[in-house]
Amino acid sequence: MVKKFVGLLTSGGDCPGLNAAIRGVGKAANSLDIQVIGYLDGFRGLVENRFIRLDSSRLSGILSLGGTILGTSRDKPHQMPAGELGTIDMRPFAVANYKQQHLDCLVCLGGGGTAKNARRLMKEGLNVITLPKTIDNDVWGTDVTFGFDTAMAIATEAIDRLHSTAESHHRVIIVEIMGHNAGWLALGAGVAGGADVILIPEIPYDIERVAEAVLHRSYAGKRFSIIAMSEGAVSREQAPESGDDATTDDTDAAEYHSPAESVSMVLARRLEELTRLESRVTSLGHLQRGGAPSPTDRLLATRLGTTCAKFIAEGMYGVMVGIRGETCVPVPLEEVAGRRKVVPLDHPWIEAARLVGTSFGD
Ligand code: F6P
Repeated sequence: MVKKFVGLLTSGGDCPGLNAAIRGVGKAANSLDIQVIGYLDGFRGLVENRFIRLDSSRLSGILSLGGTILGTSRDKPHQMPAGELGTIDMRPFAVANYKQQHLDCLVCLGGGGTAKNARRLMKEGLNVITLPKTIDNDVWGTDVTFGFDTAMAIATEAIDRLHSTAESHHRVIIVEIMGHNAGWLALGAGVAGGADVILIPEIPYDIERVAEAVLHRSYAGKRFSIIAMSEGAVSREQAPESGDDATTDDTDAAEYHSPAESVSMVLARRLEELTRLESRVTSLGHLQRGGAPSPTDRLLATRLGTTCAKFIAEGMYGVMVGIRGETCVPVPLEEVAGRRKVVPLDHPWIEAARLVGTSFGD
């Protein structure tokens, strides 16, 4: 006998591991007599009442698939684009559809923006649980997000491959790596791939110091350099006022648009002027989000998803399922929403990188 009904959606940028998480929630829920429907295209599917039943046939064969079988979007229920009408507050539709399906809980798979939208719906009376997904690894309250490990592996392989061509042509190659306003991805891939310079938003760079690091290698006979650069990296001149709190996440979807000229192109031009060394840019872009999840991400997503189903069975709502050490834990959504996890300046990855001679341009 079905005991509970649950709606599930994936929101924000996709990432590897989403299907593994959907499968984890769905299969564990079914074994606990909880029926799950999946809303299509993020919160838009919820307000438009478009969904599919996540029965066992839908949940089979998706563990290793990239993307999300449900589709996703960056649409927010409280400001939903509605053609000529502009943006409309569609929260009443979300609430009505939740009630029409007699849902006990809405599970939202997403990053920081999704947590904020889920909290908004919680304030409208819905029971919600979120799961932390994003290649950026910037979700507050969890050690790691699923999607991050796969993206880090892709970016590391790119850095590996760029070494031989940079060395053959005696060039500086700047690899632009996603991560939004956090440096986890560039830092992790930069250390793992042995980048010579790593530039992340948390450590504003001085262009003169970056040029010095590259020239120093050149004088030592190493006639190429690889720079791993976060898309959110900033120079000292561009850095926000020191009073600004980087852990406050006030980003809205519209701010995800790429700048007209990428940070890496600007850096390449300035470096060529300062060093007279030929520089090239490789922007990894959405390659980092595509394709099959790594075993680590499959495992994490399965653990978070199945724990989510257990929490629903216990009636534990208003939380994100995070991972701390080896344990999946409930983290109050109120603590998570509106905050961002950035790289602490004393993080061991930074220390290790400095000890092997990597420059952070500071
Ligand atoms: O949040 C994930 C992310 O991939 C960021 O790293 C990146 O800044 C952004 O999404 C890109 O967004 P979009 O898919 O809208 O181009």
